[in-house]
Amino acid sequence: MKVLIIGSGGREHALAWKIAQSSLADKLFCAPGNAGISRVAECTDIKAEDIKGLLAFAKKERIDFTVVGPEIPLSLGIVDEFQNHKLKVFGPNKKAARLEASKVFAKQLMARYQVPTADFKIFDNLEEAKRHIEKNGAPCVIKADGLAAGKGVVVAKSQEEATAALKSIMQDKVFGDAGARVIIEDCLEGQEASIIVVTDSREVIPLACSQDHKRIYDGDLGPNTGGMGAYSPAPIVSNELFKEIMDKVIHRTIDGLAREGIDYKGILYAGIMLTKEGPRTLEFNVRFGDPETQAILPRLKSDLLEVMLAASEQKLNNVSRLGGLSWDSRACVCVVMASKGYPGDYQKGQEISGLDETAKMKDVVVFHAATADSKGKYLTSGGRVLGVAGLGNTIYDAISRSYQAVDKISFEGAHYRKDIGKKALA
Ligand code: AMP
Ligand code: GLY
Repeated sequence: MKVLIIGSGGREHALAWKIAQSSLADKLFCAPGNAGISRVAECTDIKAEDIKGLLAFAKKERIDFTVVGPEIPLSLGIVDEFQNHKLKVFGPNKKAARLEASKVFAKQLMARYQVPTADFKIFDNLEEAKRHIEKNGAPCVIKADGLAAGKGVVVAKSQEEATAALKSIMQDKVFGDAGARVIIEDCLEGQEASIIVVTDSREVIPLACSQDHKRIYDGDLGPNTGGMGAYSPAPIVSNELFKEIMDKVIHRTIDGLAREGIDYKGILYAGIMLTKEGPRTLEFNVRFGDPETQAILPRLKSDLLEVMLAASEQKLNNVSRLGGLSWDSRACVCVVMASKGYPGDYQKGQEISGLDETAKMKDVVVFHAATADSKGKYLTSGGRVLGVAGLGNTIYDAISRSYQAVDKISFEGAHYRKDIGKKALA
């Protein structure tokens, strides 16, 4: 069959790399893709937000199945649009995608169905929000309601910081309409884990758990980024904890949505903080995590395309009946190499060297997040450039393997964390 993957990051390269291994995939397309993805899929220059353009392409090429990587097309209703035209597509519809597109919607749903999360209040008026801060003090967490490319959350240590965040979101409207409403919630403490499942709204199959590294510098210092590295499995998530998260977070959410007439199909990602009081939900994403996917998929032995097809046809019970997903018991660590200056302003167009060498390494896959092709050379074309994944019998071995590959790759100003996976060793 002909498969179209939508998106252009490291996550989409990992999806394309994995789907290309499926015996069901005859031809793979990616829109818009990147230089790395173009080695496994034919890339077409249509933006992920251009729903009409993507629809026209899918019809023209007679695409059999479309896989949506990022949240924006999902929140714009690409799934509804494709289904209206009888095209098969993997992902939640527009209503279901509100779980990520509106943090207010997600928090209210969690409150209705007793999904554990931080206590919160919702505000659409700056003065009232400020009064709340004055009364309750800091630390607290301020969240813009809508999509803000992962930048809409401020963990404020002081009252001043909280007020400044409120002003920039609600008064200066740095995130536009996404900041028309804000959530002010209690500040939680603990390690974070990413729990990702595939569901057809009845059946739920978990993927291996993982942990992201959100801050730019070693030791979790500096500003938040899209994610500087990930590892899987996350040993901090014991079997017992995993079961508790599945019951109290994942099932309650999917069942709650169903009770409100929303059939959730696709990937559901719960960002969990493991507090002393138990797991608490920080956020939901309606798609695969980036860079978690680059650490999870190298461990997946099952045919991902087959599973996605089953989910879109509401036949995931067939996959469960055969024992669910099958995993490589080894660990995987993915180190993100970023451009100098990221997550602020950064340079593009730097030549990348060493990729021929890493391509020959065993148990290493280099996923491209932002690269361009220039006369056979790879150039950097964004903030997060590469995700270098290494497999090993232990997390320790996987860390060694991925950093051996990182050492072979260079581009001007390359920045990467040196401590990816270290938390798992403690
Ligand atoms: P979110 O986009 O909601 O996952 O938030 C981004 C990051 O902000 C999370 O990964 C956490 O590190 C942090 N965060 C979000 N909510 C809270 C909270 N209630 N307490 C402490 N940190 C939080
Ligand atoms: N790694 C966090 C995310 O994908 O949102």
